[in-house]
Parts: sequence; structure tokens; C-alpha cells
Amino acid sequence: MADLMEKIVSLCKRRGFIFPGSDIYGGLANSWDYGPYGVELKNNIKRAWWKANVYLRNDMLGMDAAILMHPKTWEASGHVENFFDLKADCKGCHKRFKVADLKDRKKCPECGGELTEARQFNLMFKTHSGPVEDASTVVYLRPETAQGMFVNFPNILDSRHPKLPFGLAQIGKSFRNEITPGNFTFRTREFEQMEIEYFCRPEESEKVYEEWVAARKQWYLDLGMHPEHIRFRAHEKDELAHYARACTDVEYAFPWGWSELEGIANRTDFDLKQHAQHSGKDLRYFDEVKKERFYPYIIEPSGGVDRCLLAFLVDAYTEEPVKEEVRALLKLHKDLAPIKAAVLPLLKNRPELVETAKKLAWDLKKSFVTVYDDTAAIGKLYRRQDEVGTLYCITVDVQSLEDKQVTVRDRDSMQQERISIDKVKDYLTDKLNETAG
Ligand code: GAP
Repeated sequence: MADLMEKIVSLCKRRGFIFPGSDIYGGLANSWDYGPYGVELKNNIKRAWWKANVYLRNDMLGMDAAILMHPKTWEASGHVENFFDLKADCKGCHKRFKVADLKDRKKCPECGGELTEARQFNLMFKTHSGPVEDASTVVYLRPETAQGMFVNFPNILDSRHPKLPFGLAQIGKSFRNEITPGNFTFRTREFEQMEIEYFCRPEESEKVYEEWVAARKQWYLDLGMHPEHIRFRAHEKDELAHYARACTDVEYAFPWGWSELEGIANRTDFDLKQHAQHSGKDLRYFDEVKKERFYPYIIEPSGGVDRCLLAFLVDAYTEEPVKEEVRALLKLHKDLAPIKAAVLPLLKNRPELVETAKKLAWDLKKSFVTVYDDTAAIGKLYRRQDEVGTLYCITVDVQSLEDKQVTVRDRDSMQQERISIDKVKDYLTDKLNETAG
């Protein structure tokens, strides 16, 4: 299975999904840059999440809060006091380890050297805002997007007047100075989160929590994730954070084992109460019908964009025999595939043919992401497009000049259909709008 991860990492670099960060300088450990196909896939995942969780619901509002927040935010949230990992350093090779990962707390797992005593290590990146570097200017790069939504609770109430239950959705970068990043983009120090904070009456929180667990499951399945590769694991009581009443981890069967994609937590009224106490502001909700003021409970589905993308890549990677060869392809869901159509002229030396193909590609580009490629023989062009998950390849051949038809090839079935050039856009639009039966 390690082999599968090597294939994915290699495909990502070779085809332009994900590159090692700062590559020409030898890379910055565990930083990754998304290339032309990677950014499309990432945007498509975020778009699908936003559509399902904001546009297709009547009880959700979007937000985009600042990364740098007032430092008191992180005192209220508990991150200054509690967001630690225990680490130990090797006295021999000077490598740093997370104590929770060590089998032997005294011995270096790499060189066998002696380890220092365990010390606490805060995972927040600290910097200074403005030119003066003293205690009064300390700010943190946010370790989660969630707090931006909690602190805006009163602004949302005052500007939009939503009634309970309602939620906020946000997608954005978060930063954690992880001691042991790894597994490609799975655990990094800079990553993106897609988070929902859903406010409800305390007595409804268990029902709402169950509804969110079901909704999040459906989202992954609707986007084509293999059901046997995803599982929902409820936390045992002793695993729960002190403020959480319940939590379910969404886990994916990565090549190295089941690992967390998302957590869905019942955070109770902890966050709003903490911010009320630290800010001195009344953050309670007023129910106009019942004439009561109270702190809502919060249900939080919180996932990572990068982990989600990696899971969809692993899930979509397929190898299948075709004649004497093996075809590698990404069977990404149509909403996620970076490229929807590729127009490929069969001959490069016939100007009318090239012109027809370029004109068709330009016309399609206005409706969906389309590329034009004439830089290799057709077999190679198909292989290239299959490997990046392009849904449809359209070939323009000599006959096209006569009968004004082109061949449309479906990525998964490899079936080909002759379609009139002036019908291709409608044909593909119908296919792309089709919902899975
Ligand atoms: N607000 C709750 C929260 O941040 P979390 O479980 O610490 O909860 C939520 O993070 C999600 O963010 C995780 O399920 C994971 O997908 C993603 N995530 C967390 N740390 C990450 C890291 N170092 N690299 C990549 N993704 C990460």
C-alpha cells in the first residue's frame, strides 16, 4: 500500500497537482504548493462544500474572518493555556518527537540516543503586529477558523437577525506548529479548514448533532467516495475534549491506515460563554417568542481541505488493464474533476482541422473548464487526460471537416460517440448537470 502513496505523490508532481514547497531551494520541510490541476481540484472541493452547506440550506450563512485575531481570543478559547503537545528532543541527533508517538519515552526511535525530559510545546505560531516587538504586540496565526465565527456571533445577530437554529460556514487557512507533520499533505503546518458552527437550543443539540453527522456522511458519498473507505467513529467519553459533549471523527482508509478527515463535535455553550467572560460582552441569544435570553449550544463539523483533497485523490486513483497496457486514471466525481473537457485534434498539420478544434475549445471554455492539446499523438493525449481525471476528450479528425461531427470519449467507460460540433456544448452541459441516479 505504501506503493499507492508513492504513485499518488509522483502523479501529483509529474502532472501538476501538488509540488514540494520552495522546491528550487531544496524544499521547506512539509510545505506543499498546489499546481494548476491541484488548485482546480481544491477550488472544486471548496465549491462543493459551500454549495451543500450554504447555498442549498436556508439556515446557513457564510463568513470570511481575519487570520490575525485579538490575542485575547486565544486566551478565551483555551489555546494559550492548553494547545500543547508534549515533546522530547534527542540529545544525540537533535530530532524532536511527540511524546504520544514514542514507544520508549527515554530512547530516540531514530538513532537510539537518549531523549530529554518531556516538555510542553505550544502549537500556535507567534509573531508581532506592527514594528515593535514586545509583549504588547504579540499576535498568533490562527490555529483554527472557528474562533472567527464565535466572536462574530453578535455581528451576525445584529446584521442578519437569524433565528435559531442557524449556522455559520467558513473556509480558510489555519496554522499549527506541528511537531510531527507528515504523510504528504495529511499533516502540515499550514493548511485549510472548512468549518461550520451551528447554533441551536441546548435541548435540541443531540438531535442537531446527529443530523449533522448524517449530512456530512451524505456529502462524502454524494461526491463519489467509496462507502467502504469511509467510517464514522464516535469518541469514547475519555477521548472527549473537556468542553465537548459528543464527537464523531470522519475517518478515511488511507494507505497507511484509518485517519481523521473531519471531526463533528457538540461543543455545548463553552465557546460563547468563554468569549462573553473575556470580552465583557453579552453574547446570549434572545428568543423573542419565549422572551428568554440564553447561550446557544454549538455543533461543529470541522474538516481539512487538504486532507479531503488527498482522500479524494487516493479514492479516485485507478489502474485498469487496456489491451496489453495498464491505464492509470483518476475517477474523480464530475463536480471535482479539474478539467471537464479536452479538445484534441487528430492531425496537427491540417490548418482547417486545428482551427476547428481551437474554435470548439474556445466555445466550450465559456461554459466549463476546457483545455486544448495538440502536443502529442492521440494515445498519449488520452493517457495524459485520464491521469488528471478529465471527464471528456473530444477528438477532431479529417472526417469532422466533412460531416461537422466530432468524437466524444467518456473517461470511465472509454466509449465514444459521434456528435455534431454545434451540439457538443449542450451534450456536455447535460452530462455535467446530471445528478447521480
Ligand atoms: N475547530 C475544531 C478543530 O480545529 P481539529 O480536529 O483540530 O478541530 C479539524 O481540526 C480538521 O482540520 C481536522 O479534522 C483535519 O482535517 C484538519 N487539520 C487539523 N490539523 C491539521 C494539520 N496539521 N494538517 C492538515 N489538516 C489539519
